[in-house]
Amino acid sequence: MADFDVIILGAGPGGYVCAIRAAQLGLKVGVVEGRETLGGTCLNVGCIPSKALLHATHSLHEVHENFERMGLMGAAPTVDWARMQAYKADVVTGNTRGIEFLFKKNKISWLKGWGTIPAPGQVKVGDEVHSAKKIVIATGSETASLPGVTVDEKVVVTSTGALCLPQIPRSMVVIGAGVIGLELGSVYARLGAQVTVVEYLDAITPGMDAEVAKSLERILKKQGLKFVLGAAVRKVEATPSGATVTWAPKKTGVEASLSADVVLVATGRKPYTAGLGLEALGVEMLPRGQVRVDAQFQTSVPGIHAIGDAIAGPMLAHKAEDEGMALAEILAGNHGHVNYDVIPGVIYTTPEVAAVGKTEEALKAEGRAYRVGKFPFMGNARAKAVFQAEGFVKILADAATDRVLGAHIIGPAAGDMIHEICVAMEFGASAQDLALTCHAHPTYSEAVREAALACGDGAIHA
Ligand code: NAI
Repeated sequence: MADFDVIILGAGPGGYVCAIRAAQLGLKVGVVEGRETLGGTCLNVGCIPSKALLHATHSLHEVHENFERMGLMGAAPTVDWARMQAYKADVVTGNTRGIEFLFKKNKISWLKGWGTIPAPGQVKVGDEVHSAKKIVIATGSETASLPGVTVDEKVVVTSTGALCLPQIPRSMVVIGAGVIGLELGSVYARLGAQVTVVEYLDAITPGMDAEVAKSLERILKKQGLKFVLGAAVRKVEATPSGATVTWAPKKTGVEASLSADVVLVATGRKPYTAGLGLEALGVEMLPRGQVRVDAQFQTSVPGIHAIGDAIAGPMLAHKAEDEGMALAEILAGNHGHVNYDVIPGVIYTTPEVAAVGKTEEALKAEGRAYRVGKFPFMGNARAKAVFQAEGFVKILADAATDRVLGAHIIGPAAGDMIHEICVAMEFGASAQDLALTCHAHPTYSEAVREAALACGDGAIHA
Protein backbone atom coordinates (compact mmCIF):
# COMPACT_ATOMS: atom_id res chain seq x y z
CA MET A 1 0.00 0.00 0.00
CA ALA A 2 1.27 3.48 -0.85
CA ASP A 3 2.17 5.85 2.00
CA PHE A 4 -0.03 8.56 0.46
CA ASP A 5 -2.83 8.86 -2.06
CA VAL A 6 -1.22 12.08 -3.30
CA ILE A 7 2.12 13.75 -2.75
CA ILE A 8 2.31 17.35 -3.92
CA LEU A 9 5.65 19.04 -4.52
CA GLY A 10 5.38 22.69 -3.56
CA ALA A 11 3.19 24.50 -1.02
CA GLY A 12 2.42 27.64 -3.04
CA PRO A 13 -1.15 28.64 -3.91
CA GLY A 14 -1.40 25.79 -6.44
CA GLY A 15 0.02 23.09 -4.19
CA TYR A 16 -1.54 24.02 -0.86
CA VAL A 17 -5.01 24.56 -2.32
CA CYS A 18 -4.79 21.23 -4.17
CA ALA A 19 -3.72 19.59 -0.89
CA ILE A 20 -6.58 21.03 1.15
CA ARG A 21 -9.25 20.15 -1.41
CA ALA A 22 -7.80 16.63 -1.90
CA ALA A 23 -7.82 16.09 1.88
CA GLN A 24 -11.39 17.41 2.11
CA LEU A 25 -12.33 14.83 -0.52
CA GLY A 26 -10.94 12.06 1.67
CA LEU A 27 -7.48 11.52 0.20
CA LYS A 28 -4.35 11.02 2.29
CA VAL A 29 -2.09 13.91 1.30
CA GLY A 30 1.57 14.79 1.77
CA VAL A 31 3.10 18.10 0.68
CA VAL A 32 6.82 18.52 0.12
CA GLU A 33 8.08 22.02 0.89
CA GLY A 34 11.69 23.00 1.53
CA ARG A 35 11.03 26.59 2.52
CA GLU A 36 10.79 27.29 6.28
CA THR A 37 7.18 28.38 5.85
CA LEU A 38 4.26 27.32 3.68
CA GLY A 39 2.66 29.48 0.99
CA GLY A 40 5.35 29.54 -1.70
CA THR A 41 6.55 32.62 -3.54
CA CYS A 42 3.14 34.31 -3.37
CA LEU A 43 2.81 34.38 0.40
CA ASN A 44 6.47 34.63 1.33
CA VAL A 45 8.12 36.85 -1.27
CA GLY A 46 5.44 37.87 -3.75
CA CYS A 47 1.78 38.85 -3.77
CA ILE A 48 1.29 39.20 -0.02
CA PRO A 49 4.36 41.15 1.17
CA SER A 50 4.10 43.42 -1.87
CA LYS A 51 0.49 44.18 -0.96
CA ALA A 52 1.59 45.18 2.54
CA LEU A 53 4.16 47.63 1.13
CA LEU A 54 1.67 48.90 -1.44
CA HIS A 55 -0.88 49.52 1.31
CA ALA A 56 1.58 51.28 3.63
CA THR A 57 2.97 53.53 0.92
CA HIS A 58 -0.46 54.24 -0.53
CA SER A 59 -1.54 55.36 2.95
CA LEU A 60 1.47 57.69 3.08
CA HIS A 61 0.56 59.06 -0.32
CA GLU A 62 -3.00 59.66 0.88
CA VAL A 63 -1.74 61.67 3.86
CA HIS A 64 0.39 63.87 1.64
CA GLU A 65 -2.09 64.29 -1.21
CA ASN A 66 -5.53 64.34 0.34
CA PHE A 67 -5.58 64.76 4.12
CA GLU A 68 -5.50 68.57 4.18
CA ARG A 69 -8.23 68.67 1.52
CA MET A 70 -10.43 66.71 3.91
CA GLY A 71 -9.63 68.97 6.84
CA LEU A 72 -7.25 66.49 8.44
CA MET A 73 -4.42 68.72 9.64
CA GLY A 74 -1.17 68.04 11.43
CA ALA A 75 2.38 67.01 10.69
CA ALA A 76 2.68 64.34 8.02
CA PRO A 77 4.14 61.04 9.31
CA THR A 78 7.71 60.11 8.52
CA VAL A 79 8.72 56.67 7.35
CA ASP A 80 10.31 54.21 9.76
CA TRP A 81 11.53 51.69 7.21
CA ALA A 82 12.40 49.04 9.80
CA ARG A 83 8.88 49.18 11.22
CA MET A 84 7.32 49.07 7.79
CA GLN A 85 9.39 45.96 7.10
CA ALA A 86 8.28 44.48 10.42
CA TYR A 87 4.63 45.15 9.52
CA LYS A 88 5.20 43.41 6.19
CA ALA A 89 6.81 40.43 7.96
CA ASP A 90 3.87 40.18 10.37
CA VAL A 91 1.43 40.09 7.49
CA VAL A 92 3.42 37.27 5.87
CA THR A 93 3.71 35.31 9.11
CA GLY A 94 0.00 35.60 9.81
CA ASN A 95 -0.77 34.11 6.42
CA THR A 96 1.85 31.35 6.39
CA ARG A 97 0.78 30.26 9.90
CA GLY A 98 -2.80 30.22 8.65
CA ILE A 99 -1.86 27.65 6.02
CA GLU A 100 -0.01 25.60 8.61
CA PHE A 101 -3.19 25.61 10.69
CA LEU A 102 -5.22 24.50 7.66
CA PHE A 103 -2.75 21.67 7.01
CA LYS A 104 -3.20 20.42 10.58
CA LYS A 105 -6.97 20.82 10.42
CA ASN A 106 -7.10 18.75 7.23
CA LYS A 107 -4.49 16.22 8.44
CA ILE A 108 -2.07 17.02 5.62
CA SER A 109 1.51 15.86 6.24
CA TRP A 110 4.17 18.48 5.58
CA LEU A 111 7.20 16.58 4.30
CA LYS A 112 9.88 19.15 5.08
CA GLY A 113 12.71 19.41 2.55
CA TRP A 114 13.24 19.57 -1.20
CA GLY A 115 11.77 16.67 -3.10
CA THR A 116 12.77 14.71 -6.18
CA ILE A 117 10.86 12.08 -8.14
CA PRO A 118 13.21 9.08 -8.50
CA ALA A 119 10.50 6.97 -10.16
CA PRO A 120 6.75 7.18 -10.86
CA GLY A 121 4.95 6.67 -7.56
CA GLN A 122 7.95 7.73 -5.47
CA VAL A 123 9.04 11.02 -3.95
CA LYS A 124 12.38 11.38 -2.21
CA VAL A 125 12.78 13.99 0.51
CA GLY A 126 16.19 14.01 2.16
CA ASP A 127 17.07 10.34 2.72
CA GLU A 128 13.48 9.17 2.86
CA VAL A 129 11.51 7.80 -0.06
CA HIS A 130 7.73 8.10 0.22
CA SER A 131 5.34 6.25 -2.03
CA ALA A 132 2.21 7.80 -3.52
CA LYS A 133 -0.51 6.75 -5.93
CA LYS A 134 -0.36 10.15 -7.57
CA ILE A 135 2.28 12.88 -7.67
CA VAL A 136 1.59 16.55 -8.36
CA ILE A 137 4.28 18.98 -9.48
CA ALA A 138 3.34 22.41 -8.12
CA THR A 139 6.83 23.85 -7.92
CA GLY A 140 6.00 27.26 -9.35
CA SER A 141 8.40 29.62 -11.05
CA GLU A 142 11.57 31.63 -10.54
CA THR A 143 12.79 34.96 -11.89
CA ALA A 144 13.98 34.79 -15.47
CA SER A 145 17.48 36.22 -15.73
CA LEU A 146 18.54 38.66 -18.43
CA PRO A 147 21.76 38.21 -20.43
CA GLY A 148 24.37 40.75 -19.27
CA VAL A 149 22.76 41.15 -15.86
CA THR A 150 24.02 39.57 -12.64
CA VAL A 151 21.56 39.65 -9.78
CA ASP A 152 23.12 39.99 -6.29
CA GLU A 153 19.82 40.72 -4.47
CA LYS A 154 21.47 43.77 -2.89
CA VAL A 155 22.02 46.34 -5.63
CA VAL A 156 20.70 44.41 -8.61
CA VAL A 157 17.60 42.76 -7.27
CA THR A 158 14.62 40.66 -8.30
CA SER A 159 11.26 41.18 -6.62
CA THR A 160 12.57 39.08 -3.71
CA GLY A 161 15.39 41.51 -2.91
CA ALA A 162 13.23 44.54 -3.70
CA LEU A 163 10.82 43.56 -0.93
CA CYS A 164 13.50 43.75 1.74
CA LEU A 165 16.03 46.41 0.74
CA PRO A 166 18.16 47.47 3.72
CA GLN A 167 17.17 51.10 3.11
CA ILE A 168 14.95 53.15 0.84
CA PRO A 169 16.99 53.90 -2.30
CA ARG A 170 17.21 57.45 -3.60
CA SER A 171 16.99 56.16 -7.14
CA MET A 172 15.89 52.96 -8.83
CA VAL A 173 15.91 51.68 -12.38
CA VAL A 174 13.25 49.08 -13.03
CA ILE A 175 13.83 46.80 -16.01
CA GLY A 176 10.45 45.72 -17.38
CA ALA A 177 7.10 47.54 -17.21
CA GLY A 178 5.12 44.42 -16.34
CA VAL A 179 3.19 43.75 -13.16
CA ILE A 180 6.15 43.43 -10.78
CA GLY A 181 7.96 46.46 -12.18
CA LEU A 182 4.95 48.74 -11.87
CA GLU A 183 3.81 47.53 -8.43
CA LEU A 184 7.25 47.71 -6.79
CA GLY A 185 8.20 50.80 -8.80
CA SER A 186 5.10 52.46 -7.32
CA VAL A 187 6.12 51.45 -3.79
CA TYR A 188 9.54 53.11 -4.04
CA ALA A 189 8.29 56.14 -5.96
CA ARG A 190 5.84 56.80 -3.11
CA LEU A 191 8.71 56.47 -0.66
CA GLY A 192 10.55 59.24 -2.49
CA ALA A 193 12.86 57.35 -4.85
CA GLN A 194 13.43 58.56 -8.41
CA VAL A 195 12.06 55.60 -10.37
CA THR A 196 12.78 55.06 -14.05
CA VAL A 197 11.20 52.09 -15.81
CA VAL A 198 12.94 50.79 -18.93
CA GLU A 199 10.70 48.63 -21.11
CA TYR A 200 11.50 46.72 -24.28
CA LEU A 201 8.07 47.12 -25.84
CA ASP A 202 6.50 50.41 -26.94
CA ALA A 203 3.82 50.23 -24.26
CA ILE A 204 3.64 49.20 -20.62
CA THR A 205 1.78 46.11 -19.30
CA PRO A 206 2.06 43.80 -22.31
CA GLY A 207 -1.15 41.93 -23.11
CA MET A 208 -3.36 44.50 -21.36
CA ASP A 209 -5.99 46.50 -23.24
CA ALA A 210 -4.04 49.26 -25.02
CA GLU A 211 -6.34 52.07 -23.86
CA VAL A 212 -5.96 50.99 -20.25
CA ALA A 213 -2.18 50.68 -20.63
CA LYS A 214 -1.97 54.21 -22.04
CA SER A 215 -4.13 55.58 -19.24
CA LEU A 216 -2.07 53.80 -16.56
CA GLU A 217 1.15 55.13 -18.06
CA ARG A 218 -0.19 58.69 -17.94
CA ILE A 219 -1.35 58.31 -14.33
CA LEU A 220 1.92 56.73 -13.16
CA LYS A 221 3.88 59.51 -14.85
CA LYS A 222 1.85 62.02 -12.84
CA GLN A 223 2.88 60.05 -9.74
CA GLY A 224 6.52 60.65 -10.63
CA LEU A 225 7.55 57.45 -12.42
CA LYS A 226 9.60 57.96 -15.58
CA PHE A 227 9.35 55.61 -18.55
CA VAL A 228 11.82 54.72 -21.27
CA LEU A 229 9.84 52.62 -23.76
CA GLY A 230 11.00 50.68 -26.79
CA ALA A 231 14.41 50.12 -25.23
CA ALA A 232 16.23 46.81 -24.84
CA VAL A 233 18.45 46.63 -21.77
CA ARG A 234 21.90 45.45 -22.81
CA LYS A 235 23.85 45.37 -19.55
CA VAL A 236 23.93 46.34 -15.91
CA GLU A 237 27.29 47.23 -14.37
CA ALA A 238 28.13 47.72 -10.72
CA THR A 239 29.37 51.17 -9.64
CA PRO A 240 30.74 52.21 -6.23
CA SER A 241 27.32 53.55 -5.23
CA GLY A 242 24.93 51.29 -7.13
CA ALA A 243 24.68 50.18 -10.74
CA THR A 244 24.45 51.57 -14.26
CA VAL A 245 21.86 50.26 -16.69
CA THR A 246 22.61 50.53 -20.40
CA TRP A 247 19.94 50.15 -23.04
CA ALA A 248 19.56 50.57 -26.78
CA PRO A 249 16.41 52.22 -28.08
CA LYS A 250 14.94 49.95 -30.74
CA LYS A 251 14.43 52.86 -33.17
CA THR A 252 17.87 54.48 -33.11
CA GLY A 253 20.09 51.82 -31.57
CA VAL A 254 22.11 54.61 -29.92
CA GLU A 255 22.95 53.35 -26.45
CA ALA A 256 21.97 55.35 -23.37
CA SER A 257 22.50 54.65 -19.70
CA LEU A 258 21.38 55.65 -16.24
CA SER A 259 22.89 55.02 -12.81
CA ALA A 260 20.83 54.28 -9.73
CA ASP A 261 21.20 53.05 -6.16
CA VAL A 262 19.19 49.93 -6.97
CA VAL A 263 18.21 48.11 -10.15
CA LEU A 264 15.11 45.91 -10.13
CA VAL A 265 15.04 43.18 -12.75
CA ALA A 266 11.36 42.49 -13.51
CA THR A 267 11.51 40.90 -16.92
CA GLY A 268 9.33 37.88 -16.27
CA ARG A 269 9.48 34.50 -14.58
CA LYS A 270 10.17 30.97 -15.78
CA PRO A 271 8.93 27.58 -14.55
CA TYR A 272 10.93 26.15 -11.67
CA THR A 273 11.26 22.46 -12.42
CA ALA A 274 15.03 21.90 -12.43
CA GLY A 275 16.37 19.24 -10.09
CA LEU A 276 13.15 17.25 -9.76
CA GLY A 277 14.44 14.45 -11.97
CA LEU A 278 11.86 15.06 -14.70
CA GLU A 279 14.33 14.52 -17.55
CA ALA A 280 15.30 11.05 -16.34
CA LEU A 281 11.61 10.17 -16.01
CA GLY A 282 11.00 11.28 -19.60
CA VAL A 283 8.44 13.93 -18.62
CA GLU A 284 7.72 15.88 -21.77
CA MET A 285 8.37 19.63 -21.64
CA LEU A 286 7.07 22.48 -23.81
CA PRO A 287 9.56 24.67 -25.73
CA ARG A 288 9.34 27.44 -23.10
CA GLY A 289 10.28 25.13 -20.25
CA GLN A 290 6.84 24.29 -18.88
CA VAL A 291 5.71 20.76 -18.16
CA ARG A 292 3.28 19.56 -20.84
CA VAL A 293 -0.01 18.33 -19.41
CA ASP A 294 -3.29 17.04 -20.82
CA ALA A 295 -6.82 18.18 -19.87
CA GLN A 296 -6.51 16.18 -16.63
CA PHE A 297 -3.27 17.98 -15.75
CA GLN A 298 -1.43 14.69 -16.32
CA THR A 299 2.09 14.83 -17.69
CA SER A 300 3.37 12.42 -20.34
CA VAL A 301 4.18 10.04 -17.45
CA PRO A 302 1.01 8.42 -16.03
CA GLY A 303 0.44 9.23 -12.35
CA ILE A 304 2.48 12.44 -12.44
CA HIS A 305 0.45 15.61 -12.73
CA ALA A 306 1.41 19.29 -12.82
CA ILE A 307 -0.32 22.63 -12.16
CA GLY A 308 0.34 26.36 -11.76
CA ASP A 309 3.36 28.29 -12.99
CA ALA A 310 5.09 24.99 -13.86
CA ILE A 311 2.64 24.46 -16.75
CA ALA A 312 1.45 26.73 -19.59
CA GLY A 313 -0.86 29.70 -19.06
CA PRO A 314 -0.75 32.96 -17.12
CA MET A 315 1.59 32.87 -14.12
CA LEU A 316 -1.03 33.88 -11.58
CA ALA A 317 -1.65 32.56 -8.08
CA HIS A 318 -5.39 32.27 -8.62
CA LYS A 319 -4.94 30.35 -11.88
CA ALA A 320 -2.77 27.89 -9.95
CA GLU A 321 -5.39 27.68 -7.17
CA ASP A 322 -8.14 26.91 -9.67
CA GLU A 323 -6.00 24.20 -11.26
CA GLY A 324 -5.21 22.82 -7.79
CA MET A 325 -8.89 22.53 -6.91
CA ALA A 326 -9.80 21.03 -10.29
CA LEU A 327 -6.98 18.48 -10.07
CA ALA A 328 -7.95 17.47 -6.54
CA GLU A 329 -11.44 16.67 -7.83
CA ILE A 330 -9.99 14.67 -10.70
CA LEU A 331 -7.68 12.71 -8.37
CA ALA A 332 -10.67 11.94 -6.14
CA GLY A 333 -12.52 10.50 -9.12
CA ASN A 334 -14.75 13.53 -9.76
CA HIS A 335 -14.79 16.04 -12.57
CA GLY A 336 -12.52 19.08 -12.45
CA HIS A 337 -12.44 21.97 -14.84
CA VAL A 338 -10.83 25.40 -15.23
CA ASN A 339 -12.41 28.00 -17.49
CA TYR A 340 -9.33 29.69 -18.92
CA ASP A 341 -11.50 32.26 -20.71
CA VAL A 342 -12.50 33.83 -17.41
CA ILE A 343 -9.31 34.35 -15.42
CA PRO A 344 -9.01 37.90 -14.10
CA GLY A 345 -5.71 39.76 -13.99
CA VAL A 346 -5.05 42.57 -11.53
CA ILE A 347 -2.27 45.11 -11.13
CA TYR A 348 -2.26 46.57 -7.62
CA THR A 349 -1.05 50.04 -8.49
CA THR A 350 -3.11 53.10 -7.50
CA PRO A 351 -5.45 53.15 -9.26
CA GLU A 352 -5.76 49.40 -9.66
CA VAL A 353 -6.04 47.81 -13.06
CA ALA A 354 -8.16 44.73 -13.62
CA ALA A 355 -9.10 42.78 -16.70
CA VAL A 356 -10.95 39.66 -17.73
CA GLY A 357 -11.68 38.09 -21.09
CA LYS A 358 -10.79 39.55 -24.45
CA THR A 359 -9.07 42.84 -25.11
CA GLU A 360 -10.25 45.07 -27.92
CA GLU A 361 -7.03 44.31 -29.77
CA ALA A 362 -7.71 40.55 -29.56
CA LEU A 363 -11.29 40.97 -30.82
CA LYS A 364 -10.06 43.08 -33.74
CA ALA A 365 -7.45 40.46 -34.58
CA GLU A 366 -10.18 37.79 -34.54
CA GLY A 367 -12.31 39.96 -36.86
CA ARG A 368 -15.17 39.76 -34.38
CA ALA A 369 -17.97 42.34 -34.35
CA TYR A 370 -18.22 43.89 -30.87
CA ARG A 371 -19.66 46.88 -29.06
CA VAL A 372 -17.77 48.98 -26.50
CA GLY A 373 -19.40 50.47 -23.43
CA LYS A 374 -17.17 52.87 -21.51
CA PHE A 375 -17.77 54.88 -18.40
CA PRO A 376 -15.28 57.23 -16.68
CA PHE A 377 -14.97 57.34 -12.88
CA MET A 378 -15.34 61.13 -13.25
CA GLY A 379 -19.05 60.39 -13.51
CA ASN A 380 -19.07 58.26 -10.35
CA ALA A 381 -20.03 60.19 -7.22
CA ARG A 382 -18.31 57.85 -4.79
CA ALA A 383 -14.99 57.90 -6.67
CA LYS A 384 -15.11 61.70 -6.84
CA ALA A 385 -15.81 61.98 -3.11
CA VAL A 386 -12.59 60.10 -2.31
CA PHE A 387 -10.35 61.71 -4.96
CA GLN A 388 -10.18 58.54 -7.02
CA ALA A 389 -11.98 59.63 -10.14
CA GLU A 390 -9.18 58.77 -12.57
CA GLY A 391 -9.79 55.88 -14.93
CA PHE A 392 -12.75 54.10 -16.46
CA VAL A 393 -14.64 50.86 -16.93
CA LYS A 394 -14.76 49.40 -20.40
CA ILE A 395 -17.00 46.49 -21.31
CA LEU A 396 -16.78 44.65 -24.60
CA ALA A 397 -19.91 42.84 -25.78
CA ASP A 398 -20.68 40.77 -28.84
CA ALA A 399 -22.36 43.03 -31.46
CA ALA A 400 -25.00 40.44 -32.34
CA THR A 401 -25.76 38.68 -29.06
CA ASP A 402 -24.68 41.35 -26.52
CA ARG A 403 -22.81 38.61 -24.60
CA VAL A 404 -20.00 40.05 -22.45
CA LEU A 405 -16.67 39.13 -24.03
CA GLY A 406 -14.30 41.09 -21.81
CA ALA A 407 -13.93 43.94 -19.38
CA HIS A 408 -11.12 46.30 -18.48
CA ILE A 409 -11.12 48.54 -15.46
CA ILE A 410 -8.67 51.16 -14.30
CA GLY A 411 -9.87 52.80 -11.15
CA PRO A 412 -10.54 52.40 -7.43
CA ALA A 413 -10.99 48.81 -6.21
CA ALA A 414 -10.83 47.56 -9.80
CA GLY A 415 -9.40 44.26 -8.56
CA ASP A 416 -12.53 43.60 -6.55
CA MET A 417 -15.03 45.00 -9.01
CA ILE A 418 -13.84 42.78 -11.84
CA HIS A 419 -15.47 39.74 -10.23
CA GLU A 420 -18.96 40.98 -10.96
CA ILE A 421 -18.02 40.70 -14.61
CA CYS A 422 -16.29 37.32 -14.09
CA VAL A 423 -19.52 35.91 -12.65
CA ALA A 424 -21.53 37.47 -15.47
CA MET A 425 -19.21 35.86 -18.02
CA GLU A 426 -19.38 32.46 -16.30
CA PHE A 427 -23.17 32.63 -16.65
CA GLY A 428 -22.96 33.76 -20.28
CA ALA A 429 -24.60 37.08 -19.37
CA SER A 430 -25.24 39.93 -21.77
CA ALA A 431 -24.22 43.53 -21.14
CA GLN A 432 -27.92 44.21 -20.72
CA ASP A 433 -28.08 41.66 -17.88
CA LEU A 434 -25.46 43.73 -16.06
CA ALA A 435 -27.24 46.96 -16.94
CA LEU A 436 -30.56 45.68 -15.58
CA THR A 437 -29.02 44.59 -12.28
CA CYS A 438 -29.64 47.06 -9.46
CA HIS A 439 -26.35 48.45 -8.15
CA ALA A 440 -26.19 50.15 -4.76
CA HIS A 441 -25.59 53.89 -4.73
CA PRO A 442 -23.08 55.32 -4.11
CA THR A 443 -20.56 52.61 -5.01
CA TYR A 444 -17.68 52.29 -7.46
CA SER A 445 -19.55 49.32 -8.93
CA GLU A 446 -22.12 51.66 -10.40
CA ALA A 447 -19.46 52.45 -13.01
CA VAL A 448 -19.69 48.82 -14.16
CA ARG A 449 -23.42 49.16 -14.62
CA GLU A 450 -22.97 52.46 -16.45
CA ALA A 451 -20.43 50.89 -18.80
CA ALA A 452 -22.90 48.06 -19.42
CA LEU A 453 -25.60 50.66 -20.13
CA ALA A 454 -23.19 52.32 -22.52
CA CYS A 455 -23.10 49.06 -24.53
CA GLY A 456 -26.80 49.65 -25.18
CA ASP A 457 -28.81 52.87 -25.12
CA GLY A 458 -26.23 54.86 -23.20
CA ALA A 459 -24.97 55.56 -19.69
CA ILE A 460 -26.96 57.85 -17.41
CA HIS A 461 -24.19 59.95 -15.89
CA ALA A 462 -22.09 60.51 -19.01
P1 NAI B 1 5.91 40.48 -17.00
O1 NAI B 1 5.99 39.40 -18.02
O2 NAI B 1 4.60 40.94 -16.49
O3 NAI B 1 6.66 41.78 -17.56
C1 NAI B 1 8.02 41.75 -17.96
C2 NAI B 1 8.30 42.96 -18.83
O4 NAI B 1 9.70 43.05 -19.05
C3 NAI B 1 7.65 42.90 -20.19
O5 NAI B 1 6.93 44.08 -20.40
C4 NAI B 1 8.82 42.74 -21.14
O6 NAI B 1 8.59 43.32 -22.40
C5 NAI B 1 9.94 43.45 -20.39
N1 NAI B 1 11.30 43.07 -20.79
C6 NAI B 1 11.76 41.82 -21.02
N2 NAI B 1 13.08 41.88 -21.38
C7 NAI B 1 13.45 43.18 -21.36
C8 NAI B 1 14.68 43.89 -21.62
N3 NAI B 1 15.79 43.25 -21.97
N4 NAI B 1 14.70 45.23 -21.50
C9 NAI B 1 13.57 45.89 -21.15
N5 NAI B 1 12.40 45.28 -20.88
C10 NAI B 1 12.33 43.95 -20.97
O7 NAI B 1 6.87 39.97 -15.81
P2 NAI B 1 7.02 40.41 -14.29
O8 NAI B 1 6.49 41.76 -14.04
O9 NAI B 1 8.45 40.11 -13.96
O10 NAI B 1 6.10 39.38 -13.54
C11 NAI B 1 6.38 37.98 -13.60
C12 NAI B 1 5.13 37.17 -13.47
O11 NAI B 1 4.58 37.31 -12.18
C13 NAI B 1 4.09 37.58 -14.47
O12 NAI B 1 3.59 36.44 -15.09
C14 NAI B 1 3.03 38.26 -13.64
O13 NAI B 1 1.73 38.05 -14.16
C15 NAI B 1 3.20 37.61 -12.27
N6 NAI B 1 2.83 38.57 -11.24
C16 NAI B 1 1.51 38.88 -11.06
C17 NAI B 1 1.14 39.82 -10.14
C18 NAI B 1 -0.30 40.18 -10.03
O14 NAI B 1 -1.14 39.41 -10.47
N7 NAI B 1 -0.64 41.34 -9.47
C19 NAI B 1 2.12 40.51 -9.30
C20 NAI B 1 3.46 40.14 -9.59
C21 NAI B 1 3.78 39.20 -10.52
